[in-house]
Amino acid sequence: MLRKSFALLSKRDKKIMLLISLIQLSLTVLDVLSIALIGIIVSLSLFGIQARELPSYLNEFIEAFGLVNVSFQMQIAILSIVAGILLVGKTLSSAVINKRILTFLEEKTAQVMSDVLRQVINQPYDYLKSRSPADIVYSLTRGVSAALSGVIGSASIVFAEVFLLAVIFCSLLFFDPFITIVSLLYFGTLGFVQSRKWNNLSEDSGSKSVRSLLLSETQILNTFALYRELWVKNASEIQVSNFLDTRMKLAKHEARLRFLPYVSKYSLEISLVVGALLLTASQFLQRDALGAISILSVFLAAATRISPSILRLQQGLISLRSSIGQSKITFRMIDSIKPRPKLDMDYVFAGEQLLEACSLILKDVTFKYQDSDQNVVNEISLRIEKGEFFSLAGPSGNGKSTLLDLMMGALQPSSGQIQINGLIPELFIKKFPYGIGYVAQESTFMNVSIRENLTLGVYDSVSDDEIWSVLEMVGLRDTVLSLPLKLETVVGERGQSLSTGQKQRLSFSRALITNPKILFLDEPTSSLDKDSELSIAQLIKSIKGQVTVVMIAHRLETIKDADTIAYIENGVITRQGKFSEIF
Ligand SMILES: Nc1ncnc2c1ncn2[C@@H]1O[C@H](COP(=O)(O)OP(=O)(O)OP(=O)(O)O)[C@@H](O)[C@H]1O
Ligand SMILES: [Mg+2]
Repeated sequence: MLRKSFALLSKRDKKIMLLISLIQLSLTVLDVLSIALIGIIVSLSLFGIQARELPSYLNEFIEAFGLVNVSFQMQIAILSIVAGILLVGKTLSSAVINKRILTFLEEKTAQVMSDVLRQVINQPYDYLKSRSPADIVYSLTRGVSAALSGVIGSASIVFAEVFLLAVIFCSLLFFDPFITIVSLLYFGTLGFVQSRKWNNLSEDSGSKSVRSLLLSETQILNTFALYRELWVKNASEIQVSNFLDTRMKLAKHEARLRFLPYVSKYSLEISLVVGALLLTASQFLQRDALGAISILSVFLAAATRISPSILRLQQGLISLRSSIGQSKITFRMIDSIKPRPKLDMDYVFAGEQLLEACSLILKDVTFKYQDSDQNVVNEISLRIEKGEFFSLAGPSGNGKSTLLDLMMGALQPSSGQIQINGLIPELFIKKFPYGIGYVAQESTFMNVSIRENLTLGVYDSVSDDEIWSVLEMVGLRDTVLSLPLKLETVVGERGQSLSTGQKQRLSFSRALITNPKILFLDEPTSSLDKDSELSIAQLIKSIKGQVTVVMIAHRLETIKDADTIAYIENGVITRQGKFSEIF
């Protein structure tokens, strides 16, 4: 998991991380130097106060510092200032570097989120359809945070603290190897036993809490989406109690995750007190008081650095493991992304204008949804000529919408080929981004103005005149004119301030706004009254020849004028021809 998290960073980012970590590690050397210095100052003071002969290592030290001819008080003062500067310097630089690491990771997180989002939205449509919105949103946002700021951030803390502890313990070996090894064994064993248990617990709680969190979010969304259905059955309360069940499970995991750092704090405090008592007792039994105090002072000075470091290490490990648990779902999503077939981009000149209607060819196209074992579209071959009005009819659930998704490249065929003007749909779209218009069976809108819903924020060059004329074509001009803010009216989340028929017509104008040369229409008149339906049929008639139209329709009225009708049953074209030949 750690390796997967690092794989999210580019080579350059990894180098930056390494560099920052190395600087951070070199700072720990300052830490150790200052601890040693404090030990020396305490010993020096003790010997000095009692006016006793200095031991040889202290003499050598004083000589090395060039402090031989300075008074005893001055020696202490100078050394204390140096120790102070070292300690404060290390703390301040650590703060600066930590801020740098945090900023770096947060910015990388934002970048990786958008990279993963790009990969995900470039997947075929069935990839997204098979996942719940709450899962997708989490995997792309908080899951990525957990993988980067969480996993990598905690790993770098763990790494730095392990290094610091190693350096401190190595230096302590120099003062008293026996005590050092004993305390290393003591803390090491305690830490090892505890962290093994906690690591698994925190990873487990991390991934379980994400699962409950997502379920609870989905429950809220479902409750609102099904508002009226639940209302008439008086079933809302059941949803609330299901939600409470889920949140209670979540509460259990969250409480555990929050409590674990406290456990590590308490157990560290207890082990420190016990350790210090043992150390003091052993020293006073072994040595004279003076020797004992100077050794103790070094170890206690070290303890002021060691204990927060152990605490940070333990908490770093807990957060590392819980972040691993929380980012699992993101990695599962990333692992399931399939690379898209490489496009021959040399061939593509984006933004070309099409001058005439498109042709469409399907050759033995077969398609099966990922989680199903039946072909929804079975070896369909057909040819739609430039400017033809082609219609797909057939019973519900027999593969019409799926076939339309395949034709425009939103789904990839399991086998067979599809070509619009001789290009695979994806390449065609790259080459002629204005070439295709599409009206979905259920229209979807964003909570932005009518203008932005029509242009999708892309075609800034579309003039107001063009928008009004398209609205006129679909019979919406008067409706929009009567709104106080006209084109700037915000249509509400999912367009709920519009009626179903208005949405359908707005969706139609969105398809027409770029002056496409091929139109894919999935029952564009299903929610319209007879008159509106006729006017749409009229509209299609009026663009006949200039635009190729592929339309799914249940109501036969609308496809009477079609050049060709293909009747689809069980994913196979069973009849094909003119209206009079089919019905
Ligand atoms: N994401 C999916 N995963 C698995 N099966 C799916 C998926 N989407 C659709 N199907 C199945 O594919 C079949 C064809 O669905 P499709 O939407 O293409 O039918 P349709 O002919 O457009 O029906 P309708 O007239 O009701 O719109 C159905 O049996 C449906 O259950
Ligand atoms: Mg359909």
